[in-house]
Amino acid sequence: MEKYLINPGQKLSTISKDIYGHFSEHLGRCIYDGLYVGEDSPIPNVNGMRTDLVEALRDMGIPVLRWPGGCFADLYHWRDGIGPKESRKKTINAHWGGVVEDNSFGTHEFFELCRQLGCDAYVAGNLGSGTVQEMSEWAEYITAPGGSTVAESRKANGQETPWKMKYFGVGNENWGCGGDMTAEFYSDQYKRYACFLRGYDRTTRLNRIACGPSGGDYHWTEVMMKNARRQMDGLALHYYTVTNDWAKKGKALEFSDEEYLRTLSRAYAIEELISRHSGIMDRYDPEKRVALVVDEWGVWHDVEEGTNPGFLYQQNAMRDAMVAGMSLNIFNKHSDRVRMANIAQTVNVLQSVALTDGEDMILTPTYFVFRLYKDHQENTLLGSHITTPKIGKEEGGFPQLTESASLAPDGSVVATVVNASPVESAEILTCVADFEISDIKAEILAGEAHDHNSFEDKNAVGTRAFEDFEKQANGFATVLPPCSVVKFVIR
Ligand code: AHR
Repeated sequence: MEKYLINPGQKLSTISKDIYGHFSEHLGRCIYDGLYVGEDSPIPNVNGMRTDLVEALRDMGIPVLRWPGGCFADLYHWRDGIGPKESRKKTINAHWGGVVEDNSFGTHEFFELCRQLGCDAYVAGNLGSGTVQEMSEWAEYITAPGGSTVAESRKANGQETPWKMKYFGVGNENWGCGGDMTAEFYSDQYKRYACFLRGYDRTTRLNRIACGPSGGDYHWTEVMMKNARRQMDGLALHYYTVTNDWAKKGKALEFSDEEYLRTLSRAYAIEELISRHSGIMDRYDPEKRVALVVDEWGVWHDVEEGTNPGFLYQQNAMRDAMVAGMSLNIFNKHSDRVRMANIAQTVNVLQSVALTDGEDMILTPTYFVFRLYKDHQENTLLGSHITTPKIGKEEGGFPQLTESASLAPDGSVVATVVNASPVESAEILTCVADFEISDIKAEILAGEAHDHNSFEDKNAVGTRAFEDFEKQANGFATVLPPCSVVKFVIR
């Protein structure tokens, strides 16, 4: 029997809602044929945005959306994407499949999408191939009330009032696709671009996000914090989980038990990455003013057979849901430093929450994890601990059980627990210290590791009410099935 202790008396950091953020790039069918079907599409839409998807994302509680890349960001020139659609410049998306980009989805469309989703905007700027002036004028176009030629051109293009922009990324992966720079060179470039980047809207602080490390590149974090911490509000960490290796990653739906465990073990590695990068940041910024922003994370499998290799379309199974549940628990636990995370990518690309095929749409197991966890958004993280065996063979194994617990404004405790074992259920005795429990409601996502939704069977996987627990004076006893994510709301 494992023991789970939640201490409502130990109030830690606020769990920023932006930890539950998403990322959408001009890549494959994420924007075009995904979020944006165009005003003339027979698929139901509002101003070109696919209605069923917008509704699903709203229901999931999407708080913030990052756009337009990714690697695409450092190719993108924002002026190509404004003005009458028929005269927008056609460019080549050299990173992703070499397809023609008609720029019909640009700044106005992105902010319209955020309006429909009810979420904040995170725009990623072009440092790699754009100028300081271009980046600075993009922020002016978006946020300046009027008067200047740039702001007036926004009005002429149909948007009278400025938009609210919460985050601006100064380049993307500038150690790789964003210009192949060293940390030292980028940190100087970052300061130069950031210096001229300002939001003109006095009611919304524009948070500047610097390109951060890839995985375990601790040197990058050290250099950025040493040279540029005063000019940044966030440092972006990217980490993708790959089952085998980058040349042959492994399939999304066909995998062995060993591959299942390896995937989860590699996903769990983000705990160490966050701890170590945070440790470096703590030395330079003990007040934790600068956020660690995990603005690309998720599982990267081989593309589905028969699809364009440059489009990164992959299916999504319960294994991926386990990765999502475990990762979100880890982000919650580090919410003193991790204040935004953006899973890659919203729809039809990598670890998506939805997949589309013409007018059909399915929600993935990962979607249901985000919808379960939305109750944590803006709650106060509580001190909590669960005992757990380790499973898997890599690096001494990883915890079978992971959890996080938070206090909601109405006084209820929200606890999310992942049982990542593909075969073993977990008997757990939970104690909520000094808390008189009157009611517990629970919801579960459970299945076999390969279970998934498909266009032939859209509702094979989903959440349901969970009643397999026994309330006791200060807690409850429960048995979690293998491969499950459970949310308890304790009152
Ligand atoms: O998400 C796909 C790609 O992964 C992004 O464009 C890039 O930033 C990362 O390498």
